[in-house]
Amino acid sequence: MKYDINTRLELNNGTSIPILGFGVWRSKSGEQTRQAVTWALKHGYRHIDTAAFYANEQDVGDALRQSGLRRQDVFINTKLWNTDMRQHRQFEAFQTSLQKLGVDYVDLYLIHWPVENFMESWRCLERIYESGAARAIGVSNFKKHHLQTLLAECNVVPAVDQMEFSPYMQDREALEFCREQGIVYEAWSPLGAGAYTDDPIIKAVGSKYGKSPAQTILRWVIQQDIVVFPKSVHESRIAENADIFDFELSEEDMAEISSLNEFRRTGSDPDTFTF
Ligand SMILES: NC(=O)c1ccc[n+]([C@@H]2O[C@H](COP(=O)([O-])OP(=O)(O)OC[C@H]3O[C@@H](n4cnc5c(N)ncnc54)[C@H](OP(=O)(O)O)[C@@H]3O)[C@@H](O)[C@H]2O)c1
Repeated sequence: MKYDINTRLELNNGTSIPILGFGVWRSKSGEQTRQAVTWALKHGYRHIDTAAFYANEQDVGDALRQSGLRRQDVFINTKLWNTDMRQHRQFEAFQTSLQKLGVDYVDLYLIHWPVENFMESWRCLERIYESGAARAIGVSNFKKHHLQTLLAECNVVPAVDQMEFSPYMQDREALEFCREQGIVYEAWSPLGAGAYTDDPIIKAVGSKYGKSPAQTILRWVIQQDIVVFPKSVHESRIAENADIFDFELSEEDMAEISSLNEFRRTGSDPDTFTF
């Protein structure tokens, strides 16, 4: 079995990222996020995916400090929001994120969406990276053509691209391009934001292994060397979603789930988003 809860993928700058993380989008600020992150750390997650836009960086930081874990034991990712990009507030936004998280560096800092001036923002991220305050930098919601534009001009190649990715939404063109360029792919909304946790086809595959649809999907993601960070605010589900390292999907079952692709998005299309 190649993967365990501590498995990390190498990034292109010599650092590494835990393949399993914990997402906190739509986890309410305050007690809900503090509690969810506390449970996640208790159940062995060592990677938290947040964003300035989620309005819960402070709660992530509080849970981290209350856990008693050392800063270097938990991988923290946050993201630069669109408004801050458009208003040229990139450095201020980064400082605000550090302050809210209560840390003096993040492990990964991402451009959240490819807004018009993403190249200007990438230059800012490159400077933040050079300062050491972000150990790696990357992008989110960048299709192949966005990456091509960025790669033609950048000094630092993004370490990751975080994209919507689930059995029903697989942008294989972006994935293959990332692989060619040495960019690690990350899957957001792997469970279709909850839409696929009762899916009969996935349920049938998972039942062969005694696993739930959520566990089956998450295992399918990591078996492709894709980083994943399911979100939940329930302890039993947080534990369930991390319990994916004691089985291995066969090649046939991997292929069956991969064949479900319909480009069905639960979020916005990076070419047409309106925020
Ligand atoms: N970069 C981006 O633009 C972007 C966009 C979206 C998301 N993300 C990141 O990706 C993370 C994951 O995506 P997501 O939060 O949209 O969706 P998700 O992880 O695909 O699904 C979360 C939903 O599924 C439910 N759920 C979780 N585990 C379950 C289980 N074992 N059984 C049944 N239901 C379960 C959760 O409900 P409960 O919470 O009620 O348990 C929640 O409603 C986010 O939290 C965020 O960190 C990034």
